[in-house]
Amino acid sequence: MSVVRRLGVLTGGGDAPGLNAVIRAVVKSSLLTHRIKVTGILNGFAGLVENKHRELDRDSIAGLLIRGGTILGTTNRGNPFDFVYRRPDGREELIDASQTVVKNFEKLGLDALIVIGGDGSLAIAERLFREHRLPVVGVPKTIDNDISATDATFGFATALEVATEALDRLHSTAESHHRVMLLEVMGREAGWIALHAGICGGAHMVLIPEIPFNFEPLIAKIRARERLGRPFSLIVVAEGAAPAGGGQVFQSEDAVTGWKRLGGISHSIGKVLADREGCEVRVSVLGHIQRGGTPEPPDRMLATRYGVEAVRLVLEGKFGHTVALHGNEIVAVPLAEAVGHLKRVDPDSQLVRTAREVGIVFGDEDPEEVEAAEG
Ligand code: F6P
Repeated sequence: MSVVRRLGVLTGGGDAPGLNAVIRAVVKSSLLTHRIKVTGILNGFAGLVENKHRELDRDSIAGLLIRGGTILGTTNRGNPFDFVYRRPDGREELIDASQTVVKNFEKLGLDALIVIGGDGSLAIAERLFREHRLPVVGVPKTIDNDISATDATFGFATALEVATEALDRLHSTAESHHRVMLLEVMGREAGWIALHAGICGGAHMVLIPEIPFNFEPLIAKIRARERLGRPFSLIVVAEGAAPAGGGQVFQSEDAVTGWKRLGGISHSIGKVLADREGCEVRVSVLGHIQRGGTPEPPDRMLATRYGVEAVRLVLEGKFGHTVALHGNEIVAVPLAEAVGHLKRVDPDSQLVRTAREVGIVFGDEDPEEVEAAEG
């Protein structure tokens, strides 16, 4: 066991329901069980560059289990190796501020740093460990559920709940108005939220980045349903979905970091369907509603387990590792193995087959077979 008197904790990248529950678990187990003090680093790695932090004592974590977001703040622009520096003339440029991170880490008297983040933040943690020997331990988070080292990330269950409820609500209004309703959900390059919500919410079509779609099978499904006396359809669209031979739709791009924000593909799909089929189409983009608010119990549970086990890894000196869920056990995985390759939906998986066998169309089918399958 290494001697640890004070550890730092930060949250990086997009927020996810359950971040505060991890912070709470880290602070509780550190203070109550291991007598370790905890410093909260503000706004992700940016707080270690700019030396912004706060003490995390018992009072600061009261009521945190159920609170969405992160009390520490976070940012997508905090990468210390490509830090966004604002020059006196107001222009922004990227600089390597990783040495400053090391200096501030030492100045704060930290013995270890717990980094709660997605693939991007864990990759930064891995680089700080590899290049600067910074004693880091990772905790994987993201609503996208796309981190390959772990069976699950917290935040996903809550996002799925929100997306499923949205579908349930769209169902009745779609049916009343005989409309085609599209629900766009998040997930970046992975279709997990769309696929799970589509199955749980009884969608008729699900479009995900892993399966490029054609319009013909979608139209065949809409027509077949009309013929059967069900003149309404629900389509879940992952924000990263793209037509076969076509590209993804982006909302914006950060001019300095190059970070591209997905979103809006469902509007172009809706327009094509309305133009070609003459059907009434409505589009809902769920957006950040999936990320905010109270974490569902599965996320609170995973977050708490991750937080406690991350402190244990620190005490065992297992730096350069991340906690991960394998089956029902929390294990340690080297960060080097955990980052850089996303977990995406396998189009040949049992889950996709399950969806197909309950009639969900992904847009890669033969249109005639789609029509025939509806009977
Ligand atoms: O990675 C989580 C996520 O919510 C993605 O699903 C989404 O594409 C992205 O973050 C949105 O980022 P931002 O909060 O910067 O708009």
